[in-house]
This record gives sequence, C-alpha cells and structure tokens, in this order.
Amino acid sequence: PPVSIFGAPTDVGAGTRGTRMGPEALRVAGLVEALAARGVDVVDRGNVDGPGNPWQPPVDGYRHLDAVVAWNRAVLEASTRELEAGRMPIMLGGDHCLAVGSIAAVAAHCRRQGKKLRVLWLDAHTDFNTSDITPSGNIHGMPVACLCGIGPKALTALGGHEPEITPAQVRQIGIRSVDQEEKRLVKQHGLDIYDMRYIDEVGMKQVMEEALAGMDADTHLHVSFDVDMLDPSIAPGTGTKVPGGVNYREGQLIMEMIADTGRMGSLDVVEVSPILDAGNTTAELAVDMIESLFGKSTLMRD
Ligand code: ARG
Ligand code: MN
Ligand code: MN
Ligand code: MN
Repeated sequence: PPVSIFGAPTDVGAGTRGTRMGPEALRVAGLVEALAARGVDVVDRGNVDGPGNPWQPPVDGYRHLDAVVAWNRAVLEASTRELEAGRMPIMLGGDHCLAVGSIAAVAAHCRRQGKKLRVLWLDAHTDFNTSDITPSGNIHGMPVACLCGIGPKALTALGGHEPEITPAQVRQIGIRSVDQEEKRLVKQHGLDIYDMRYIDEVGMKQVMEEALAGMDADTHLHVSFDVDMLDPSIAPGTGTKVPGGVNYREGQLIMEMIADTGRMGSLDVVEVSPILDAGNTTAELAVDMIESLFGKSTLMRD
C-alpha cells in the first residue's frame, strides 16, 4: 500500500530528553527519499503536535501522564486517518510511549476490517512496567502493558477497546534488559520473548521463522522498532542503551525476513535521540534498516 510518514517529536515518556528531535534526524538521514527511490508511493505528512515536556518527577508512578496521553491521542488520530485511507502509517518518534497510540489505532482498524493483528516488538526492553513496579516512572517503559490492558485508564482505554491487544499477539525480539518485577509480570502474562541469549543460541534465522509463524493473508503485521534493539556500538543515538544487542547483519536479516512476508501494514521507528548520537549514524542506520523492511536486499541466490 502507499505509505504515509508522520513525526511525533516528543520525549515526554522518557527519562532523558532528545527523542523530540528523532523525526527530523530520520528525515535528514533521507528516509522519504530512500523509500521513494525504492518505488514506494510515499508522502511525508509532517509532524503531529502535543504539549511540551514539563520535565517533572513521577507522580504516583507516572512521569508526565497527562502529556503522554495527549501525544498518544494525536498519534492515534494520525494513524487512524492513514489506515482508514488504505495507507500504511510510519510513525517517527519520539519515545516508545507513542506505540500505545499507534497500535491502538491499528488494533481498531483490524477489528473493523476483521483482520488478525500481529505485533513485532523490536527492542532491548520488554516495556511491560506498571506504575507499581517501574524503577523510573518513565512511561516509555510501559506501552506493551498498557496495550494489554494493564495501566492507567487514560492509556488502556485510549482507543475505546480494553484491552487493545492480548499478549498472544506480541513477539518481542532483541530483549536483554528487563526489570526484576517486570520480568515476573512478563512471565505471568506469557509474552513470547526472543531474548539475546536465545538469538545467540539458535540464530536470527530461526528466531524470525518462529516469530513470524502462523500469519496468513488476513494478518496485519505491525512492527514497532525501538532503535535500542541494535547494539549501542552501531546505534549510539538513543537514551537507554544496553550492551550486547542485535548486530548489523542480524538487524538486516530481521528486516529482510519481515519484508519477505509481505504482511507489514504499519511501522513505528522510535527512541532515536540525535543529541546522543555520533553524527547522525543512528538515524542513518535506521533508514538503512527500513530500506530492507521495504524489500532492499543483497540476496543473489534467490
Ligand atoms: N525498563 C526501564 C524503565 O522502565 C527502561 C525502559 C526503556 N524503554 C524504552 N522504550 N527505551 O524505565
Ligand atoms: Mn489495513
Ligand atoms: Mn522500547
Ligand atoms: Mn528499548
């Protein structure tokens, strides 16, 4: 389908400021031109708007809950508009709290169209914290829990359906940093997790075959790409770096195998923080990966 890009320039859900500059960094890295050069029918809708970052400490376990809700409403609206027009939304974050809005929009779209939804969560983190157990109060550590119905009403009911998704619809890849109580919750809810240890042991090809299994022509695949999935040595421009991440070749294989399914219907690219970057390498790497998501391949033996 044709693609619509929009930015959500905020860092209200994070503990460091900088992802508000993510959308511009991705544009400067040539995202729109790269997709157009691949023959993708792409338009850049510009940015959605929202409140500033009040930079306050957490209240009742949430930092900036009101602002996070406002930004997510804007993302939900923008994503819904594109999906209903038959287009594929690419949401440029911004921090990962924005996936509540983008995925709530996709979930509603799938309910209307009678489609199955699969969420591929590419991340170093499970983002399954709650206000009771969060070590930080940062809501970018909570979106998966919120989407599964665990969280503040304003976020769990954002799209008017609770829960928006179930853990059985989610596959998480690249995981290597889970807080102690968060780990208990993740296990309790049975999330399907492909952590770095498993990736090391069986290899990325098998991981992706397992994570993408069971999709059919009625499946809408949403990809939520937190750039901190990638190893910080190749993607330093992000606020919650964790060593031991996905390397360049593994990252490419993830994207190429997603492209091979032909099922991707929506995409988030989040947590790019240009002020922490070496030049613009992280946004440039993200664009490189997104080209593969849209079918660029070095494959000669096909
Ligand atoms: N688990 C940590 C927290 O809750 C880090 C979360 C990082 N999330 C992210 N989307 N980068 O604060
Ligand atoms: Mn659709
Ligand atoms: Mn994340
Ligand atoms: Mn992360």
